[in-house]
Amino acid sequence: MQKNNISNHKNHPKAYIKTFGCQMNVNDSEYLFGQLKHLNYLITDNISDADLILLNSCCVRKNVEQKIYSLIGKIRKLKINNPDIKLGLCGCLAQKEKENIFKNTPSVDFLLGPSRINELEELIKKIEINNKKYLYCSHLPEFTLKNIPIKRNSHITALVQIMRGCNNYCSYCIVPYTRGPEQSREVGELLSEVKNLIKKGYKEIFLLGQNVNSYGQDFKKPVPFSELLKMIAKIDNIKRIRFMTSHPKDLSFDLIETIKNEKNICNHIHLPIQSGSDKVLSLMNRKYDTHRYKTIFNKIRNSIEKVSITTDIMVGFPGETDNDFNDTLTFFKEMEFDNMYSFLYSNRENTVSSLMPNQVPLSIKKERLWKLIDLQKIIATKINKRMEGQTVEVLVEGSSRKEIDGQLTGRTDTNKSVIFKGKKELKGNLVLVKVIESDAWTLFGELV
Ligand code: SAH
Ligand code: SF4
Ligand code: F3S
Repeated sequence: MQKNNISNHKNHPKAYIKTFGCQMNVNDSEYLFGQLKHLNYLITDNISDADLILLNSCCVRKNVEQKIYSLIGKIRKLKINNPDIKLGLCGCLAQKEKENIFKNTPSVDFLLGPSRINELEELIKKIEINNKKYLYCSHLPEFTLKNIPIKRNSHITALVQIMRGCNNYCSYCIVPYTRGPEQSREVGELLSEVKNLIKKGYKEIFLLGQNVNSYGQDFKKPVPFSELLKMIAKIDNIKRIRFMTSHPKDLSFDLIETIKNEKNICNHIHLPIQSGSDKVLSLMNRKYDTHRYKTIFNKIRNSIEKVSITTDIMVGFPGETDNDFNDTLTFFKEMEFDNMYSFLYSNRENTVSSLMPNQVPLSIKKERLWKLIDLQKIIATKINKRMEGQTVEVLVEGSSRKEIDGQLTGRTDTNKSVIFKGKKELKGNLVLVKVIESDAWTLFGELV
């Protein structure tokens, strides 16, 4: 049989991987890396040097999709000079476009949807003996990552997907279409993975799901997320547990109690609100209103000492009036979030909101976003100012990005970024830092 050029002309072909999108994609890419290493690929940072290029893609908003298409355009030019290069589009955009991609973007050689990431090895082996275009995009009935090789980016924090997919169908969101229905990984598989990670020296376990609060609801005998957390928290030597994302409609009081009682579960909850207007929340199909959100928010604040709460917010949803946006501003003033991720609403094909009337012009969306950013900056500055003089426990991640005279960076259990002077050897340790100064985004301190 004729062998394709990926592994034909070299013992160690080179692969380049670029990741777009959320933490789930970052973790999926770690599995892509792992499988390629298992196939004896060398990983290169230089795209022009690669025999195989994988783009692990996202399409949650239009702008990220455009970036990916423009990168594909550049790769097409590389392929003109070297037709042996293989380009694989993985992740959500692959799932969204399926065979359209082969028609419209012929430089793509294969598609690997987010539910099929663990089948890269099998796919590459097929491509090596057969130069066909492959489409691996159907959703599978079960979600397991058992025995899939992985090459993790960090030796300190390990990402662990506890579930995939989403059943919520928020009217603006493409994720339920790209990631498929909710599927949870078995408790036993998760516990043994986490135990292994701790044995290997990982300090922090970051549990991932689109809506972790509905973990285990797809089992014959449902297991609540709070129960899974309790089991993980009991594992010997586990220093920190984080999780993301919590949907306000499903967050239980039992979860709040669990975070309060288990010392190694971080005191941080990411709880996306999306809008401060009940009318808009209803159009978004979020299935909660601001009253329900406030009830949970206050319960969290009153139950867990020194907790931080962060949120996602979107501006310019179809039908959002100045009044609705003012409701969002008022809501933010009242809640005082520690941090926010803010987005301009982006119309996604085939979502319910893409067909809604009263789409908001881009200029108004941008104006609203800047107003909100200015407000949140004032709030976050005020919250961080209160931390000055306090001593916080920090998990040291490494040298600060700016690398000015031995500065280290790390995070508090409330997920605040801290910069302080210290030796590189502290990387991976929990240390005490006294906060001296702060701004809206960072605490600056001194080792105690
Ligand atoms: N499952 C998470 C969110 C995943 S997507 C949740 O329900 O909270 C991450 C964020 O992207 C969302 O919280 C939302 O704020 C934003 N987002 C999703 N679809 C979007 C769209 N069409 N336009 C703009 N922002 C969007
Ligand atoms: Fe998208 Fe809503 Fe699901 Fe989050 S909960 S992934 S915003 S549909
Ligand atoms: Fe993007 Fe898919 Fe994550 S669309 S945000 S990579 S779930």
